[in-house]
Amino acid sequence: MRTQSIDKTICVLPGDGIGPEITEQAVKVLRAVAGLFGHGFHFVYADFGAGAYFKHGNPFPDATKEACDDADVILKGPIGLPVDEISTIPADKRPEGAVLSLRKRYDTYANLRPVTVTPSFFRYSPLKESVFTGAIDILMIRELVGGIYFGSRTEGEETMFQYAEDNCTYNRDQVERIVRYAFNAAREKGVRLTHIHKANVLATSRYWNRIIDEVKKDYPDVECVSMLVDNAAFQMVKDPCRFNGIVLTENMLGDILSDQMGALPGSLGFMASLSLGPEKSYAEPAHGSACDIAGKNIANPFSMIGSAALVLEKVFGLETEARLVREAMDGIYRDGHVTHDIAEYADENATSLSTAEFGDLTVRNLEKIA
Ligand code: IPM
Ligand code: MN
Repeated sequence: MRTQSIDKTICVLPGDGIGPEITEQAVKVLRAVAGLFGHGFHFVYADFGAGAYFKHGNPFPDATKEACDDADVILKGPIGLPVDEISTIPADKRPEGAVLSLRKRYDTYANLRPVTVTPSFFRYSPLKESVFTGAIDILMIRELVGGIYFGSRTEGEETMFQYAEDNCTYNRDQVERIVRYAFNAAREKGVRLTHIHKANVLATSRYWNRIIDEVKKDYPDVECVSMLVDNAAFQMVKDPCRFNGIVLTENMLGDILSDQMGALPGSLGFMASLSLGPEKSYAEPAHGSACDIAGKNIANPFSMIGSAALVLEKVFGLETEARLVREAMDGIYRDGHVTHDIAEYADENATSLSTAEFGDLTVRNLEKIA
């Protein structure tokens, strides 16, 4: 089952809150993959986020930019602080802004957020088991470098506090490349594509629909469904299976809906993500830094290890390695262990694993099946 060995540099940005403890597990697993399959993975660490601001006065310091530029891929932990602490950082130096700069710098336009819920996981979902007419297997594809998050803003003194403004713009190139990416992904997987929008109000949504109508002519084999976002939010709770396949959204709607989708397996701790750019990609969990549980060794590192698996699969082309990492993690739950995030729904005798134990067990399972 050996694949050709590769040599790669991975820039690790541990981030804030639970970031360092969960990235440590992902690195642990990647080192094990390297050892088992004969790959050379070299890890370079750099500061990013609120911690970087307090240390260097900048959440995305120049040295970090250089380290990211020089690496083959970036593995980023979550960033951010609780609201009361974040207000001590000037608005233009907040870590969320650094995330947007990172995305812009590498033009990471395609954000992939897979959500799978197999029958053995239905019990951990906040939804009734009867809602699941089958397993959930959704790949959310969110446009990540356009729309309202990157439009001009007017606020504060500039408007004498009389109004505030955020602009949402999308041009043809921005829309067409992600639409084609999504159609290709749907074709490759042989699944339906659901586009979620707000075309009954927004010009940008109507523009997306227009481009989708053009592009879909090249994909007569792909079933393409269109859904208004308010209805989609309702359906995602009422009948989530109807979204199986690819879900395509613009930037902000994808931000909101991917968190809602993350609730299906019972915890955002399962929500991995990868953001692909033309030359460089970066992986990060789709959730925040969960500062309330930071440093306690109880965070679920699934999302972070899952993000590393996405790097193996989609960036390094190591599909076997990626599949085995996921199998190793699934095996942990199959063996009756749980993580703290879903422990309340588990059997009383199920053992709750710590963050580090989960990483160690993933490695141990991997060694068994590789
Ligand atoms: C996400 C996050 C980011 C976003 C923040 C941290 C800027 O919520 O990746 O979903 O809004 O895109
Ligand atoms: Mn988000």
